[in-house]
Amino acid sequence: MKKGRIGILTGGGDCAGLNPAIKWVVKTAVDKRLESERGVRYEVLGIRNGWSGLMYEAGASLKTGDYISPLDEQKVRTWDRYGGTMLGTSRTNPYNPENDRSKLVLDNIKKLGLNALIAIGGDDTLGVAWKLAQEGVNVVGIPKTIDKDLVETDYTLGFETAMSVITEEVDRLRTTAGSHRRIFVVETMGRHTGWLALEGGEACGAYIILIPECDFSIEKVNELLLEGRKSGTRYEIILVAEGAKPIGYQEFARQEGVDNFGHKMLGGIGEFLAREIYEGIGVETRCVVLSHLQRGGAPCAYDRRMGRYFGIAAVDLIMTGDFGRMVCYRNGEVTSCPMDMVIGRTSYVDVEKHYDIERYSGRRTIFRHKG
Ligand code: F6P
Repeated sequence: MKKGRIGILTGGGDCAGLNPAIKWVVKTAVDKRLESERGVRYEVLGIRNGWSGLMYEAGASLKTGDYISPLDEQKVRTWDRYGGTMLGTSRTNPYNPENDRSKLVLDNIKKLGLNALIAIGGDDTLGVAWKLAQEGVNVVGIPKTIDKDLVETDYTLGFETAMSVITEEVDRLRTTAGSHRRIFVVETMGRHTGWLALEGGEACGAYIILIPECDFSIEKVNELLLEGRKSGTRYEIILVAEGAKPIGYQEFARQEGVDNFGHKMLGGIGEFLAREIYEGIGVETRCVVLSHLQRGGAPCAYDRRMGRYFGIAAVDLIMTGDFGRMVCYRNGEVTSCPMDMVIGRTSYVDVEKHYDIERYSGRRTIFRHKG
């Protein structure tokens, strides 16, 4: 029987859903019954810590498992229950113009004898995969990011688990907020998009939701808060995306500089807003930054299922030789699209469709009634 070797890696920020995807890639690739149908016996090599797992110099020992870790059914059997990524991850960019190491990556892919490489990641990781595809590597992508900001797919792994974290944490805040009659500003992640804040805010019933796609007026936020108090509420929850900003301001950054892919490290709007509210209306206001909690914990049922479907679909693409594609979920179906349709683009919240700019909240109308 013909032999084949598949490499798999996870890149960028970790999240829940990665391990289920890895498990199902392995299980599908080495499935004995499928093997006889396909006429190919596959083995799967896990590549450690994102692209850096392919950046070892000649002479490095692969026995240590620091770079490469062979995967089999037994090894991955329980992985789908765990958050994060058992393979490790990093924001390493082999094409970083200041230190381009892509040649090393290409050499190592060749030396390892990989017939195909599955990259699980967001825009950055998939962008590297696409560049490698241009150099002749057989790549397939699986979308993951809690930000849900990739185009061409209605789902990215990690998003629903992050939603559950937001909902649970806000539920916890409600009792303390109510006891003290305080306002709580909860800062979510999401980079330049508001999916996490908007859908998380809808799920947990936040009073005000502020997203990067719609700059807000601090005066208006304060008016809405006073309105709430007048109607008899004891407390208010505001969800603010890390990339949201008041009209006339720049995005807030928690740290100077940029990461390996040139991204600013956003954060700080929550604290700023809490201060503005206290100074504006004199109501005690606290800020909670959910930060990496949103990426943590065991995958929810949906991320386990989607990880499974995406993992299986990625192996299917390899079987049919459809390389340079990303598996995706569209209109209720798992399908795929060319990777270059995804790279460098961002899925933003359509404010007109999904946001109520009068109340700074989720929409109140699902279907527009005609006539
Ligand atoms: O892209 C995922 C994400 O969690 C963003 O929402 C956030 O801005 C960023 O990663 C944080 O990155 P890091 O883990 O490097 O601090």
